[in-house]
This record gives sequence, structure tokens and C-alpha cells, in this order.
Amino acid sequence: MNKKTVRDIDVKGKRVLVRCDFNVPQDEEGNITDNRRIVSSLPTIKYLIENGAKVILCSHLGRPKGEVKKEFSLAPVAKELSKQLNIEVKLADDIIGESAKKLVSEMKDGEVVLLENVRFDAREEKNDPEFAKQLASLAEIYVNDAFGTSHRAHASTAGVADYLPAVSGFLIEKELDFMGNALENPARPFVAILGGKKVSDKIGVINALLEKVDTLIIGGAMAYTFFKAQGYGVGDSICELDKLDLALELLEKAKQKGVKLMLPVDTKVGKAPEKDTESKIVKCTEIPDGWEGFDIGPETIEIYKKELKDAKTIVWNGPLGLFEIDQFAIGTNEIAKALAESDAVTIIGGGDSAAAIEKAGLSDKMTHISTGGGASLEFLEGKKLPGIECLENK
Ligand code: ADP
Ligand code: 3PG
Ligand code: MG
Repeated sequence: MNKKTVRDIDVKGKRVLVRCDFNVPQDEEGNITDNRRIVSSLPTIKYLIENGAKVILCSHLGRPKGEVKKEFSLAPVAKELSKQLNIEVKLADDIIGESAKKLVSEMKDGEVVLLENVRFDAREEKNDPEFAKQLASLAEIYVNDAFGTSHRAHASTAGVADYLPAVSGFLIEKELDFMGNALENPARPFVAILGGKKVSDKIGVINALLEKVDTLIIGGAMAYTFFKAQGYGVGDSICELDKLDLALELLEKAKQKGVKLMLPVDTKVGKAPEKDTESKIVKCTEIPDGWEGFDIGPETIEIYKKELKDAKTIVWNGPLGLFEIDQFAIGTNEIAKALAESDAVTIIGGGDSAAAIEKAGLSDKMTHISTGGGASLEFLEGKKLPGIECLENK
């Protein structure tokens, strides 16, 4: 990575503002149901504590749309951080107000304060310069480690870098190292697996990956648009009728680039997206009316597994079926197992893909699971990420 990191600057005794992505899922009582984003932020926070910085953390949580809303408070995050770090992490009642200023002014070296949800102020998402300046005035150094929010040009992810020396944390460094390396110097064969709901969500990624991979495996609901485009009926499966030409173009592009583009051959169809719905396996070219494709079928699973056996680099984005329902999670789980058993470099991007692998209990078997949803997609597309662009070059 060509960006400076916390290692390249002297942080001792300095007030350091660290933007993290603590946007974690919670249940109805506000309990954090997946703390991976918090755990992934710890290396940078611990480094700063150990090196005598005063650590001022900030993040958004959810989309409170510029209003103070209790259910979007970072209080549960402060609690989880205190537990993980084994020191008290004080939560300010505001972002740049009296409470934040007071807590920051009282900080000693090695202490940690968390500001309230930056999206409680509408100026955050507008990247308002005055708000960014006030946020910056709390600190002497800015560290961005919020990889998951690095595709947003907001005050706390980008604007603040106009007013402070700005460097990257270890999480952003790690994400760029793993994903960047996989794209730039992949060990081959390089196989990408793309699933998820819509072709339109992933056009940019498909196009970018067609320039790099040897094989592109398609699964999930987006596969049906490719079958419809080739003139087959897809029953009630999710299908984007305005993307049929595009699907044909992508098939043609793959041919021209010499990329092996693989579509499922069989699919598990159901009557409705429900737990106990009646289901059966059919050929993808013979999906009957009144049925909806919810998973890749057993023959497809075998073909895909065989293709993955020789792969040296595998990038996966998007579940291969409606994995939230067990009877339609088989394709996703079987392919996750194949990755877990593979010697290839395995990289997972995308919020739902990461959740599916976590649900399958295979997270620690992957080389890298990105903490980014939208951010990792934009990275795979080759887009510039404002939260990273704003940091100082080495
Ligand atoms: P990611 O977050 O990993 O980028 P997406 O958001 O693109 O993935 O897609 C995930 C969603 O797609 C999941 O909610 C999953 O249930 C849904 N999905 C995948 N395949 C199907 C299918 N055949 N029918 C309906 N939904 C599907
Ligand atoms: C995410 O969960 O993808 C990030 O935290 C960004 O959240 P946003 O989509 O609300 O900007
Ligand atoms: Mg998703």
C-alpha cells in the first residue's frame, strides 16, 4: 500500500482521531449479533494505546439521517470495546459538543474515548467542511481505519483529512493488501464466484473481474437473468427483464476474453421463499411456471467444486442461493466448504457472503473476509475509495 500508516508517524502524547466502522448488526434489544467489525478494529486501537496516544474513536451506526435517535446510539459498541480492550471506553453524549470536548480535554495518554454516532449530525453525510473542521479540532492526527465506509465521502471518512495529518490504520492496510494483491498478482488459476440477487448490483464487478480471472462462476438469483436472456423460461425466479441484453453482452465478453463463464446446470426451485415450502430439483433450462429458483442444484455443486479444486486464487461475492432459509443454503454451504478445504488464497467480499460463511462456521478457514460490503464491491470494481484517497502517500 502506498499510503502512510500509524507506523509512519509519532503518536506519543498526541490526540488521535480514529474513524472506525462500528456499524454492527444488533438484535431488537440492542445486543450486538456480530462483533467482527469491532474485533477487526482492535489492532490499530491497541497499537495507539501501547504507543501512548490519546485515542478518540468515532463511527456511524445505521442510518439515523441526521437526527439523534436512541436506537442508533454507540453505547453497545462502547460496552463491547471496553470488554475487548479490558479498559473503560467512555462514550461522549455528542460528537463535537460540550460532552465530547470535556471528555477529550480530560484524557490521559493511553486512554480511549468514543464519540457518539457521527450520523446524528446531518452535516456528516454532506461532508460539510465546517463540521469536518470542528471534528478535526478535537485531535492532532487523523487515522482512518473504517474500510467498510471508505467508499463514502463523508466528513469523518474524508473531509477531516483536509485539516489534520491523515494516515491509515492496520485494518485498511490489511484489506488493501489482501484484496489488492489478489487482483494485481493472483496465483492462477484465478476463479471468481459471483452470486446474490441482482445482475444490476454486480455489473461493475463482473466487468472488472472479466479482465482478470480465468473462470467466472455464477450462482444466486442473478443466474436466472442469464437463462432468460438465452430464451429459456425461468418460472417465477428473480429476473431482471431490462438486463437481458446486458447478460448476453457479458456472455460475449467472457468469450472474447477467453474467460470460462460457468452458469448453473440445475437449480432447487420452491413454491415460495418460505421455510417449509415444497421444493424440487430441475434443470435450469426447464424451470416450470409457478416455481421459483432459490438455490443451485446438486449437479451444479459438483461441477463448481471440481472447478475450484485446481484454483489458486478464489474471490467470492454474493451467496449462491436464498441462504437465510436452510433448505436453500446448501449450495452456499457446500461451496463455502470447498473454499475452506482449498489451498487457494480465498477472499470473501460482501456483507451477506460474509454472514453466510459465518453462519456456516467457516470464517476462520478463509484467507481473508472483508469487513466491507459496498466498499469491497467498489474496491473489486477498481473504483477509487474517497476514505483512502484522502490519506497521505508514503
Ligand atoms: P453480498 O451482500 O454478499 O454482496 P448480495 O447483497 O448481492 O450479496 O445478495 C445477497 C442476497 O441475495 C441474500 O439475501 C440472498 O438470500 C439473496 N439470494 C441469493 N440467491 C437467491 C435466490 N436464488 N433467490 C432469492 N434470493 C437470493
Ligand atoms: C456498511 O455497512 O456497508 C457500511 O457501514 C456503510 O454503511 P452505509 O451503507 O449506511 O453508508
Ligand atoms: Mg448484500
